[in-house]
Amino acid sequence: MYLLGIETSCDETSVAISHKRNILSNVTISQIIHKKYGGVVPEIASREHLQLITDVAEEALLQASIDSNKLNAIAVTNGPGLKGALLVGLNFAKGLSISLEIPIIGVNHMEGHLFSSFIGSDKVRYPFLCLLVSGGHTQIWLVNSYKNYDLMSTTIDDAAGEAFDKGARILGLNYPGGPEIEKLAIGGDFKAFKFPIPKIKNSKYNFSFSGLKTSLYYLSKRLDEKNIKASRKDIAASYQEAIIDTLIQKVKYLTKQINVYSLVVAGGVASNKRFRSKLDDFNNQGLYQISFPELKYCTDNAAMICMAGYEKFINKNFSDLSLLANPNLSMNE
Ligand code: KG4
Ligand code: ZN
Repeated sequence: MYLLGIETSCDETSVAISHKRNILSNVTISQIIHKKYGGVVPEIASREHLQLITDVAEEALLQASIDSNKLNAIAVTNGPGLKGALLVGLNFAKGLSISLEIPIIGVNHMEGHLFSSFIGSDKVRYPFLCLLVSGGHTQIWLVNSYKNYDLMSTTIDDAAGEAFDKGARILGLNYPGGPEIEKLAIGGDFKAFKFPIPKIKNSKYNFSFSGLKTSLYYLSKRLDEKNIKASRKDIAASYQEAIIDTLIQKVKYLTKQINVYSLVVAGGVASNKRFRSKLDDFNNQGLYQISFPELKYCTDNAAMICMAGYEKFINKNFSDLSLLANPNLSMNE
């Protein structure tokens, strides 16, 4: 069963080929043009996807060493994401579906992240808690079985990735901010500056990150330029630690309440090494089975769209050519 997966929801143009749960190729081009704007410019993202998608798809087929006639279906992200960017992938998928006479499967981008831990692994078992930490989402889902998901926590303001991106901008670093802050934080003292771990009234499980970013902003105003330069590493380490501790605190609360011993962490922020190691520390007694995707499958990629598409394929959950791009698609649709 061969699938071609397409991901164009934001600023990564990616096409992958899979055979059942194995990834044969995964070609991803990150659109670096957005760096100079400090964030993703939607119109530019759509234009770049248009320019890249055919070459990326051809390269994915070449690297997988299979002919397009062997494909059984096309899995494509149809939301959530930037509308224009989604449309490029979706229309490309529809064209392929018509010319190859194979079905199309619409995939929710976040469900793609959720299934990214299944790539090349048969360790993940239902039920599990899934912590999705990306640039637009910070959520914990109780995944009972395929398509049986309960939302346990969500952010009431910014996402964790957004806190990294906005923090990086305050510190004069490039976009995306997560890897930049992680790099700068190496060797820094994470106890040097105190950032508040937000407490939300009547909502113990939910996340909030906007206060952290505001406190970084005021810290940067308080310190003069010379002091900022001297303490940049410590600031980055302390800020990163506060984001990570906020995430882990909610995981602790939830795992105490729910009898689930398998935890899957996915999304761009899951590639943060300090976060991965602090989650391992939290699990020092080995009570939980914690799964992370391989680093290359944490940030946006089409391999994860193949994995979610495969789950849909075996559940005969196909779409058709009327499939629409939905920027606000929710996980339970
Ligand atoms: O999952 P993703 O690639 O795209 C979305 O679906 O949003 O996540 C992107 C987010 C960005 O906010 C980026 O700053 C963050 O993930 N990120 C990281 C790291 N790598 C990417 N955050 C912290 N540490 C990292 N190493
Ligand atoms: Zn993503």
